[in-house]
Amino acid sequence: MEFSTPAGTNPADRSRVLGKPTPRIDGPLKVTGTAPYAYERHDVAQGQLVGYPLGAGIATGRISTMDTSRAKAAPGVVSVVTTLDMDALPIPSEHHQVRLFGGDRVDYYHQAIAVVVAETFEQARAAAGLIDVAYEPANDAFDISKAQNRLGDGAVEPEVSVGDFESTFANAPHKLDRIYRTAAQSHAHMEPQASIAAWDGDDLTLWTSSQMIQWAKEAMATALGIDPERVRVDSPFIGGGFGNKLFVRSDAILAALGARAAGRPVKLALPRPFIMNNTTHRAETIQRIRIGVDDDGRILALGHESLSNAVPGGEGEDATLQSPHFYAAKSILTVNRVFETHLPEANAMRAPGEAPGHMGLEMALDEVAEMIGMDPVELRIVNDTKTDPSNGKPFSERHFVECLRRGADTFGWGERNATPGSRRDGDWLIGHGMAGAYRDGPAMTSAARVHLQPDGRVVVETDMTDIGTGSYTIIAQTAAEMLGLSLDQIEVRLGDSAYPISAGSGGQWGAASATAGTYAACVALRDRIAERMGVDPDTVTFEDGSARAGDTVRRLADLAADGEIVATEGMSFGDFRSEHMTATFGAHFVELGVHATTGEIRVRRMLAVCDSGRILNPVTARSQVLGAMVMGLGSALLEHVAVDTGKGLFANHDLASYEVPVHADIPEQEVVFLDTVDPVSSPLKAKGVAELGLCGSAAAVANAFYNATGIRVRSYPITLDKFLQDLPSV
Ligand code: MOS
Repeated sequence: MEFSTPAGTNPADRSRVLGKPTPRIDGPLKVTGTAPYAYERHDVAQGQLVGYPLGAGIATGRISTMDTSRAKAAPGVVSVVTTLDMDALPIPSEHHQVRLFGGDRVDYYHQAIAVVVAETFEQARAAAGLIDVAYEPANDAFDISKAQNRLGDGAVEPEVSVGDFESTFANAPHKLDRIYRTAAQSHAHMEPQASIAAWDGDDLTLWTSSQMIQWAKEAMATALGIDPERVRVDSPFIGGGFGNKLFVRSDAILAALGARAAGRPVKLALPRPFIMNNTTHRAETIQRIRIGVDDDGRILALGHESLSNAVPGGEGEDATLQSPHFYAAKSILTVNRVFETHLPEANAMRAPGEAPGHMGLEMALDEVAEMIGMDPVELRIVNDTKTDPSNGKPFSERHFVECLRRGADTFGWGERNATPGSRRDGDWLIGHGMAGAYRDGPAMTSAARVHLQPDGRVVVETDMTDIGTGSYTIIAQTAAEMLGLSLDQIEVRLGDSAYPISAGSGGQWGAASATAGTYAACVALRDRIAERMGVDPDTVTFEDGSARAGDTVRRLADLAADGEIVATEGMSFGDFRSEHMTATFGAHFVELGVHATTGEIRVRRMLAVCDSGRILNPVTARSQVLGAMVMGLGSALLEHVAVDTGKGLFANHDLASYEVPVHADIPEQEVVFLDTVDPVSSPLKAKGVAELGLCGSAAAVANAFYNATGIRVRSYPITLDKFLQDLPSV
């Protein structure tokens, strides 16, 4: 069915199950270690061998020779497949620019160039080290800061241009013109990319870890040159993805090639030190932000230019994405440009574009507020808008000001000392900071199949994924609500390409889309049930395991006694939706301490207030925002994959040297959801929250650091080397 008009009242509004704080239904499987992750699917295919990858030791050039004789003779080795054994495999997705395997060309460091298949992991790993490779390296430049002077040279067409930015900015009474830098980041999901591949003749089954099942199926078919109908992908549990599992990676290709060569199923996990160069990362950015305001803080001119690394042909990390839409600027200019280089491929990472974009923009606004002596919360309030300044479209729902006011109240913002570096708690300098948050609220076509079984229970099947987000739970809640059942009467099956195609997990569209698809399938099932009762579907209500139409009441179990009733249906989203801007809003508040002598930074409190439409499950939604806030703290203070600008690789490519927050780094966190609904977004009036929580949270930490110390560090992450010398003398 099509979602073609704003949602009116519908069965989901009863909120008997939906909207209730519900622990995740897959929780017991996870805490008992019995949720089957890709690498642990021991039972799905007999005789599994183990694959181990070899990565290129240069960033760009070609391979002249590979000698596999020692590897092939090593104990336990069954087969060795090298990149020279075949032509370059087609790039598996239009969202990528580099190949995953095949041919003699090297386009990035740790590009997969061989897979060794052996009886055991240790044998495969040892043999991979025995492959001798000779390279002919090519030259490239890898230092993005050398391209910084191109910001503002006018050589690239603007993404968005509203009004006459340059002259409006030049004539503005108050002007800010600054450069901000954000670091390259790695997704650092807990579960590595892993796949088990098994061939049955020309049919391939792939048990893997993927956010997007249908994309994975099509990508495998494209890369291997087979019919997509010959590929099955199964990924019921995923240990984090953050965008790095939107697309098939080398684990899947190598497992499939290794399995074909060995004639047996092969499992392969990418070793952690391999992931950061071999897969994708968030590009580093250099952002030039120019803001001109009047005496009342109204934005007259907003210029945001972003420069990021990208492989040749890539789009880079567009940090300007939020800037045309968020605030009521009179003139706007955004420019996205890339520095083309043979670093590993930059691609989507949670809130791509907006996450680093807010790190620049929301720090710049903090600077503007200080420049004109205005409270940063007030500055954002005076620049609120009900229509998008770049296209004039109305926001379907926008409660940004309420986020700011509610957050300021809850946090005690009024007690903040606005003078930087002037509040102490013993040896600690105390600071408070805040930031706004804006993220698109997309929805995508999504389908599901629902079975009413003879025992009265309902099974939902969809290829939707649960990457730790809570998809299982909100889909079960949706079905229970629609069919008048309790949660324990619903079974949800996810992640199998044999099920109807869903929206998948990405871009914070998963929750709104997959529950819409489940809603559509449940509406279709309700129609079937009414048909079986011989009544008008519009007159039937579902409650307590029964369907009622007038005086007729039938148990669902009785209706299905002679055989299950099945309905498959999907939801697509009509054009009317694009007449509005459907977006999510938030406000972040942070308190931290900076040790006056050592410069150690300890975040003390974090608060996020979110406006995301109906919150389908406050427990799982809250977890999404908490995790995003942790990621924001990491972005502000820790995370940085360091480019070896000589060799073109990420030097700190493991979790010993790429630092992410641990529990000891994380303070008290609070999340408040505004009680809003968005009828334009989806039948359930819901929007996503997972990326919203990352937008602005890092800037709020950085702004609190400034308030604590009076030192403005405009290059993330804020590490000791960047400010220790500037700390006030003790
Ligand atoms: Mo998200 S970066 O679209 O998985």
